[in-house]
Amino acid sequence: MPTNPVLVVHGGAWAIPDDMVDAHLNGVRNAAAAGWRALERGGSSLDAVEEAVVVMEDDETFDAGRGSFLNRDGKVQLDAFIMDGATLRGGGVGCVERLRNPVRAARKILSDSPHVYFVAEGAERFAAEHGIALCRNEDLIIPREVDRLREYQAQHSTGGNDLFAPEISHDMLSHDTVGAVALDRQGNIAAATSTGGTLNKAPGRLGDSSLIGCGCYADNLSAAASTTGWGEPIMKLVLAKWAADRVESGSLPEWIAQEAMNYLKQRLDGHGGIILLDAQGRLGIAHNTPRMAWALRTKQEEDAGITRNG
Ligand code: GLY
Repeated sequence: MPTNPVLVVHGGAWAIPDDMVDAHLNGVRNAAAAGWRALERGGSSLDAVEEAVVVMEDDETFDAGRGSFLNRDGKVQLDAFIMDGATLRGGGVGCVERLRNPVRAARKILSDSPHVYFVAEGAERFAAEHGIALCRNEDLIIPREVDRLREYQAQHSTGGNDLFAPEISHDMLSHDTVGAVALDRQGNIAAATSTGGTLNKAPGRLGDSSLIGCGCYADNLSAAASTTGWGEPIMKLVLAKWAADRVESGSLPEWIAQEAMNYLKQRLDGHGGIILLDAQGRLGIAHNTPRMAWALRTKQEEDAGITRNG
C-alpha cells in the first residue's frame, strides 16, 4: 500500500543570532520545497534528500558547499554522505575541495560504485569521471568566511587546534551542517548530510557528517537520521546509529531524538541537533544548542522553525 511521504530538513544547530534567523528559515523552507517536489513527482526518498541538501549547499547561509567555513589554510574542504534505508547502500565523500555539491558525488558513489567512500582528489576524480563538473576551490570561498577566519586566527594565535581550547563554547560557534531525512510513497527512508566542517579545522580533518552512523544513517528497519553540531563528540558516540538502533528497539523517534541530545551532552559535553524519521513516518527533531533550524513537509502539514532551548 502506498505510504504518505514525509520530509524533514535541518540547517544547523547553534546559537543562531537574531539577524540570521530569517536567512536560516528561508534556507530550510527552500530546501524542504525542493525535496518535496521530488517526492511529489514520484521520486524516491534518496532523490528527495539529495535535492533538499543541494539547495542548502548552494545557499551561502549554511556551512555546506559554497560559503562554508575555511580550514586553517584558508581553503574550503567538504564532507557529505547519503544513505538508502531500503538497501543500506551508502555513498560518502570527504575532504573534497573542487565540488560545488558534494552530495551529488556521494549519490553517484552510492549508485555507480561498489565502494562506500572516496576522499580528496580520488573523490574529485570519481565525480569528474561520472559527469560532475569540478570547480575551483576559490569558487567556494566567500568574503564573509575570509573575514571570519582572519578574525578567528587573530584571536586564537596560540597555534595548534584552537577549537579544543577550553574557553571555546561549542554551542555558541556556528554549526550550520545541513541534512535531510525522507520517507517516500514506496515506504523507503533515506538520509543525507553535508558540511564544510569546523572553522579553522586542520587540513584533512574529517568530521562526523560523512561518517556512516555518525552524522548520517538510514535503515528501513530502524530509522533515518542526520545530525548537526560539533563533530568529534558525535562521531565518538556513533550518534546517528545509536539513535536508529533505539527506534528499531521500539522507542518513538520523538523521544529518542531528545535522548540522543541528552546522551551527547551528558557523555561528552557535546552540542548539536538531530532529525530522525522511521518508515512509519514518525519523526523527531531535537537539539541541545540554543537554536536549531528545521523544516518539515507532510501531506497534511508544512512547517518550519528555529526552535529555541531554554
Ligand atoms: N558536524 C560537522 C563537523 O563537525 O564537521
